[in-house]
Amino acid sequence: MSPKPSSFFLALSLLSLFSITFFYHHYTTAPPPLKISQTTLAATQNSIKVYVLDLPRSLNYDILRKYWALSDDTRIGSEVDNEFRKALLHRDSGKLLPYPENPIIKQYSAEYWILGDLLTPEEVKKESYATRVFDYREADVIFVPFFATLSAELQLMINKSVFRKKVKENEDYQRQRIVVDLVKKSEAWKRSGGRDHVFVLTDPVAMWHVKDEIAPSVLLLVDFGGWYRLDSKASDDSSSEMIHHTQVSLLKDVIVPYMHLLPRLHISQNQKRRTLLYFKGAKHRHRGGLVREKIWDLLINEPGVIMEDGFPNATGKEQSIRGMRMSEFCLHPAGDTPTSCRLFDAIQSLCIPVIVSDNIELPFEGIVDYSEFSVFVAVSDALSPNWLLSHLRSYSEEQKDGFRKKMSRVQPIFVYDNGHPGGIGPIPPDGAVNHIWRKVHQKLPLIKEAIIRERRKPTGVSVPLRCHCT
Ligand SMILES: *[C@@H]1O[C@H](CO)[C@@H](O)[C@H](O)[C@H]1NC(C)=O
Ligand SMILES: *[C@@H]1O[C@H](CO)[C@@H](O)[C@H](O)[C@H]1NC(C)=O
Repeated sequence: MSPKPSSFFLALSLLSLFSITFFYHHYTTAPPPLKISQTTLAATQNSIKVYVLDLPRSLNYDILRKYWALSDDTRIGSEVDNEFRKALLHRDSGKLLPYPENPIIKQYSAEYWILGDLLTPEEVKKESYATRVFDYREADVIFVPFFATLSAELQLMINKSVFRKKVKENEDYQRQRIVVDLVKKSEAWKRSGGRDHVFVLTDPVAMWHVKDEIAPSVLLLVDFGGWYRLDSKASDDSSSEMIHHTQVSLLKDVIVPYMHLLPRLHISQNQKRRTLLYFKGAKHRHRGGLVREKIWDLLINEPGVIMEDGFPNATGKEQSIRGMRMSEFCLHPAGDTPTSCRLFDAIQSLCIPVIVSDNIELPFEGIVDYSEFSVFVAVSDALSPNWLLSHLRSYSEEQKDGFRKKMSRVQPIFVYDNGHPGGIGPIPPDGAVNHIWRKVHQKLPLIKEAIIRERRKPTGVSVPLRCHCT
């Protein structure tokens, strides 16, 4: 099992020393990265080398094919997709397929856009941060091109009753097993223990059954919400306030944005906003979302406040566009998990986010300072009568204009869609995909250090996972 140190490992440790120095130098001398114009990725002349693991199509694009081959989906939000299915019947099936429009699935579509960028031929690529390499030994990270979200969502559509079971009928579970077995057999995994592997797990239930097996890897997640239960099970010390993450951590994982579902409002099109605060979404939620119900009851009859119960269909979408564009502030309480795609819709609508979610993780922090254009409110304050509205009324017109101006500068970094079929084609340099790779790049020195530490352990020694601290 344990290989002798070779010149390759020596080279790797030298490389890691170099990159730590480089990392340190680069990030201490760079100007404060608050102005987006200064962080234009093309200007940093930086890139990350990515090896795309060779997985069968049955683990990515064929899942998409299966989704479109289903007969009518009767769930709410599927109207657009059902129309597209009818059109597909008359089309050449060799074409690149789009990702589902159903908002429940579409919001998690990072996996589709990231892979599309990696599969774009070098000569077509213009400003991708990720450079594809075809020998894993040359790579900084190994990308695992499994459509984990789509795999889970498809299973929920086909047969929900077996979703949580490790049985033959659960096709999602079968795919997860195939991915993990393939990955773990590879030389690339053996040399790193999986630490330099990247998985996209935007849907909280993606790769549900094998989470502990891929825990050492870099996970791209929308937040840590789905992991609390797993982690509290793994942790002995329940008395402490500290969350003992054993599987996820801001040290190794990257928070990625939800895909926004509403179109961008350019600041030049911004009009006078007549409503103070807007919220749209389900009133009832589990876990952290209990706070929603209480806030709802406090605000529902207040002047200047609009609270709407919404549907994830065309009517609901029109409602949201109107609501978010005519309100100064958009409420963002915790849902089932600490975040939701609503935040990114608010940003695209230039509606100042009011974030009521005490332990929220946000994408691209360190590159973006959300406090420059959002209002963060403690749950306890939001629940004290009259506090929230008088706080929001205390912002001057000038302050609100300033927030919107700053928001308009960050709008592009949350955009995944590059407008090309299959997501294959040149991407915007300041878009979400490049920012994700940039954040992964920042983890490299730590990943390399962890790999080297792991390698010195004598055979048979097992040290428990620990990723807590952040
Ligand atoms: C789902 O799978 C279970 C187990 O095989 C089966 O009993 C059930 O009939 C299936 N349901 C549907 C809707 O296919
Ligand atoms: C959206 O769903 C709601 C509730 O089911 C329904 O009343 C409305 O007509 C739907 N709108 C469209 C365009 O399908």
